[in-house]
Amino acid sequence: MKGIILIGFMGAGKTTVGKLLSEKTGMEHIDFDDKIVEEIGMTIQEYFDLHGEEAFRERETNVLKRYIDHNQVVSTGGGIVMRPENRELLKQMAPVIYLQTKPEVFIPRLKHDHTTVRPLVVSKSPEEIRQVFEPRIPFYEESSSLVVATDDRTPEEIVHEILENI
Ligand code: S3P
Repeated sequence: MKGIILIGFMGAGKTTVGKLLSEKTGMEHIDFDDKIVEEIGMTIQEYFDLHGEEAFRERETNVLKRYIDHNQVVSTGGGIVMRPENRELLKQMAPVIYLQTKPEVFIPRLKHDHTTVRPLVVSKSPEEIRQVFEPRIPFYEESSSLVVATDDRTPEEIVHEILENI
């Protein structure tokens, strides 16, 4: 089986679904944010504060290039689609699944997740978070080969739908 790449906004469930897909398929699971944190030796928030978002996006492109041909389950960061270069790379990759989630679902999740500090949403209002999300929708759509709606569905149901459709 070819690898599976998961894209979608923060709080869409990319990591949870990625881990379960890995269990079901036996493929290794890679989380791009974790890879970047390993490389930079600090949190993403600290890296944004020190070097800015563009430097982080550069790191993200480098990781994407490195894993382009790997047969693994990949959970990407929500902003992977921001660079045109990354969108082109994603189009050449193994099935790319857009985990489509509504703001009504991901905003409360982001607010309740105290384990990860996300610089682009921390201390933002729901309206401001929507403003980060909305311009990205066409990018997620154009970069993916399959769209899976995740609202009101369990990770098991989502994984089942992915495996039935790739
Ligand atoms: C980001 C999403 C985060 C992380 C960084 C930026 C974004 O990943 O890469 O905080 O711009 O959407 P998750 O989607 O895994 O939270």
